[in-house]
Amino acid sequence: KKIVIFASGQGSNAKNIIYHFKDRNDVKIAHVMSNNIRANVLKMAHEHEISSLYFDRIALYNSNEVLHLLKDAQPDLIVLAGFLWMMPENILNEFEGKIINIHPALLPKYGGKGMYGNYVHEAVLENEEKESGITIHWVNENYDEGKTIAQFKVDVHPSDSVKTLREKIQQLEKKHFPKVIDQILFKES
Ligand code: GRF
Repeated sequence: KKIVIFASGQGSNAKNIIYHFKDRNDVKIAHVMSNNIRANVLKMAHEHEISSLYFDRIALYNSNEVLHLLKDAQPDLIVLAGFLWMMPENILNEFEGKIINIHPALLPKYGGKGMYGNYVHEAVLENEEKESGITIHWVNENYDEGKTIAQFKVDVHPSDSVKTLREKIQQLEKKHFPKVIDQILFKES
C-alpha cells in the first residue's frame, strides 16, 4: 500500500506515521509534500530518506503538476496532517474516498477556515469546554466538513493552557492517527 502525506508545518504527525510504518514492507510512504519550503516536515522526511517535495500554488491549483505527480504515485491513501491549503477539486475527484485529514478538536465544533494550530485550542479554552480531542475525517470541498472516521477525547481542565492542551492533543494524535491510517489501508483485505 502507498501513502502520500501533505503537511505545512512541524510534521509531528508525519513523523508518527513514518515511525509507525518504518519496519513494514507492506506500506510505503511515497512522498511527503509541503506548500511551505521552510516547513520542518520536509527536512524531517528527508532525514528519514523519504521523498520530500515542495510545491507552490501554481503547481497545486493551476498547472496540475501536483495532480499528475499523485497520479504517478498512485497512493491508496492521501493523508493531510496539518496541511493548511484547500485540496483542489481535480484532486478531490481523482482520489475520491482516499483523502483523510486530522483536526485537533471535536468537529463539527471548532472547525473551518482559520481554525488551525493554537487558534483551535484558544477557542476551546475561551469557551470553557470540558473536553476536546481529535477528529479524523474524510476530506471534501469544505474545510473540516467531510464525514468523520474516528474521534478521540481528552478532558480539559480549568488549569489547562494552550500549551498543555496542545500537548494532550498531540499525545492523542500520536496514539491514534497512525493506527487509524493502518486500519483504513487494510480494511478490505
Ligand atoms: C496537528 O495538531 C493537526 O491535528 C492539525 O495541525 C497540527 C499539525 O501538527 N491539523 P504537525 O505539523 O503534525 O506537528
